[in-house]
Amino acid sequence: MEVVIRPTAAEGSCLAADLVESVVATTPRAVLGLATGSSPVGLYDELGHRVATGRVSFAGCRAFLLDEYVGLPTGHPQRYRSVIDEIFVRQVGMSSDSVDGPNGNASDLAEACVEYERRITEAGGVDIQLLGLGSDGHVAFNEPSSSLASRTRLKTLTRRTREDNARFFGGDVAAVPRHCLTQGLGTILEARRIVLIAAGVSKAPAVRAMVEGPVSALVPASVLQLHPRVTVILDEPAASLLQLADYYREVWENKPAWQRP
Ligand code: GLP
Repeated sequence: MEVVIRPTAAEGSCLAADLVESVVATTPRAVLGLATGSSPVGLYDELGHRVATGRVSFAGCRAFLLDEYVGLPTGHPQRYRSVIDEIFVRQVGMSSDSVDGPNGNASDLAEACVEYERRITEAGGVDIQLLGLGSDGHVAFNEPSSSLASRTRLKTLTRRTREDNARFFGGDVAAVPRHCLTQGLGTILEARRIVLIAAGVSKAPAVRAMVEGPVSALVPASVLQLHPRVTVILDEPAASLLQLADYYREVWENKPAWQRP
């Protein structure tokens, strides 16, 4: 696991953009795995700037979302499928048709999950998966106790996640759906490359558990320790509890040029 600590979240977003750009430069028809939440917003803004200046193009790319709430009507502003159009798709000039997500309104949710896995496989799998980190250590909506081998499925959100996400629903926890569809941890691990972004001191305990704790279903993000190509990008507050922070800084400062994006 490569851990990169940047002084600010904005600098972390620029580094994440460099990684995405390098993948799309070598694979113009890259399949992107997109996260919602606030963590990747700076990255998406940066990629929007780079598209506007002609530095990168997503015209040939496809994308898959990690997760979706169950039961939010089409057109609801907090449906992840709507959110991603707003924060990413429109900015980078992709067509909305080239972005796919689990169908949280399907009459048969179990079948929708199987279908979603099939579409990801048919697209050739994900070249670069972007992730945020829940304050309870979740990735996508894989809450603590998720099977480390899980596939796309229905999950029940924890009270804590619903409280964390209430800010997107006018502060009303009761308005946050209780159920979601989410790619499983086993699904996410199949991405060829993973970039996780976390910023702010509220993420520091989850970051420490993910990077330096044991691999455990109690901290779903810790399963990323088993993936061969993960970059964790942190700002200083998010990195503040890491035991080996100085070592991660030293590794980054001395990273050979040929290994950089
Ligand atoms: C949400 C999403 C995740 C996201 C995480 C962190 O519940 N399902 O994909 O990464 O929580 O959110 P944020 O980036 O807003 O802190």
